[in-house]
Amino acid sequence: MYNEIKSTFSAKIENVMLARTIGIAFLVELDLTLNFVNEVKTVISEAITNAIVHGCLSNENKVVQLNMSYDDVNIYIEVIDKGVGIADIEKAREPLFSTKVDEERAGLGFTIMEVFTDKLEVRSRVGDGTKVIMVKKYHGENN
Ligand SMILES: Nc1ncnc2c1ncn2[C@@H]1O[C@H](COP(=O)(O)OP(=O)(O)OP(=O)(O)O)[C@@H](O)[C@H]1O
Ligand SMILES: [Mg+2]
Repeated sequence: MYNEIKSTFSAKIENVMLARTIGIAFLVELDLTLNFVNEVKTVISEAITNAIVHGCLSNENKVVQLNMSYDDVNIYIEVIDKGVGIADIEKAREPLFSTKVDEERAGLGFTIMEVFTDKLEVRSRVGDGTKVIMVKKYHGENN
């Protein structure tokens, strides 16, 4: 079994809810538990918010991409922006690290993504943008 969806949004904060609703709707065939769906919803929101707020600096002319797929075992979530990129990925992934503390950001987005998925990969280059790849197993005892 394989299924995929690719969607592109303007980098506007108003589109976070739309993106996560589309993401969840895509998974409806999998008959997941509410708890599992809430975890997916959370990680999509964190990644899309980062892409818009940090990557695109709320530049509405830019776009953010949400690509999702699943096979028999895993759900794959990709969030891509062509924004500013991340200079030090390791540092950015540390719990409580944020470049926007003054704006009441906790610096926990990547930590949440890591906790609620089985794999989190961050690819980024300054000036080129960022790609976040998450893999979450749905077949087995954690669902
Ligand atoms: N797509 C991105 N483009 C550029 N920088 C990013 C991107 N995603 C994350 N970052 C950088 O990584 C840091 C850590 O991200 P993380 O999501 O963990 O925390 P935060 O967004 O600052 O706070 P929170 O998610 O708790 O509101 C951000 O402060 C930002 O500097
Ligand atoms: Mg964040």
